[in-house]
Amino acid sequence: MDPFEVIPTGGALGAEVRGLDLRVELDADIVRALRESFLDHCVLFFRNQLISQEDLVRFTRYFGEPIPHVRPQPDRPIEEIFVISNVTEDGKPIGALGSEEIPFHSDLSYLPAPGTISMLYALEIPDEGGETMWANGYASYEALDHRVKSRIDGLRAVHRHPIDALNTPEPTMHPVVRTHPETGREVIYVSPHLTHHIADLDLKEGQVLLDELIAHATDARFVWKHRWQVGDLVVWDNRCTMHRRTPFDDRHRRVMWRTQIFGAGAR
Ligand code: SIN
Repeated sequence: MDPFEVIPTGGALGAEVRGLDLRVELDADIVRALRESFLDHCVLFFRNQLISQEDLVRFTRYFGEPIPHVRPQPDRPIEEIFVISNVTEDGKPIGALGSEEIPFHSDLSYLPAPGTISMLYALEIPDEGGETMWANGYASYEALDHRVKSRIDGLRAVHRHPIDALNTPEPTMHPVVRTHPETGREVIYVSPHLTHHIADLDLKEGQVLLDELIAHATDARFVWKHRWQVGDLVVWDNRCTMHRRTPFDDRHRRVMWRTQIFGAGAR
C-alpha cells in the first residue's frame, strides 16, 4: 500500500497528495507511484510543506532535471530556483511576473523545446486573487467534434512571447494537437498568451479557428482553480495542461519559488 493518499479534486483535473513530508528523501517506490498519479491527474498538490530551496530542487529531480530558468534573475543562491513575486526590496523586484493577470498558457511554448513539468511553492500569498487555474488539454481534445478533430489534425501554430527579446530568431512552431510522450494521449496545444497564429492557414481563417479552439479549451468544464495556502507545493504537467493566474492587489505580497523541467529533461 502507498504510504500516501491521493485525493482527486473532483474538478477537471488535479489531486491532493497527503501523508508525505517533502523535507525527507523519498524511496524509489514512492517516487514511482507519485509519478503514476501525476500522469493520471496532470496536477498534484501537497499542503503544509515547510521546505527549503534544496528540498524543492531534490523533489523536482524525482520528475526530471531542473534547469535554471531561461529568464535571468540576479542573486539566485540556488540557480534552479526562480522567484515569482510582486515584492520589491530597495526599489528592485525580488522576482518576476508582478501582480497582473497571466492569461492561459503552457510554460515556455515559445521555445522549440518547451517546459514539460513545472513546480510552484507558496511562501507568501495575498488574501484575495493570485489564484492559479489549470485547463485539462486531454478532456478538451476528447470533447471536440470529430469534424473539428480532423480539421486541426496536422496543423501547426506559431508560438511567440509578447516580450520579443525572449523569442528565438526563427519562429517557434508546434502542432496544434500534440501527443503526450508518456501517456500517448492527444491534447490541444494552443493558448491565448503564447500562440500567435496558425501557420498553415490564411491569417483570418486561422484566427477564427484559434479563437474557437481557445474558447473551447478554456471552457469552465475543463478548468480547475487552486486557492493557494502558504506551504503549498503544486506540480503540473505542461504537456497536457495550460494555466492562468488571476490578478491581485499589488499592495499585498505574493512570493513563490518555482522550478522548471524542460523538453528532454522529463523522466
Ligand atoms: C505562471 O504563469 O507560470 C505563474 C503562475 C502563478 O504565479 O501562479
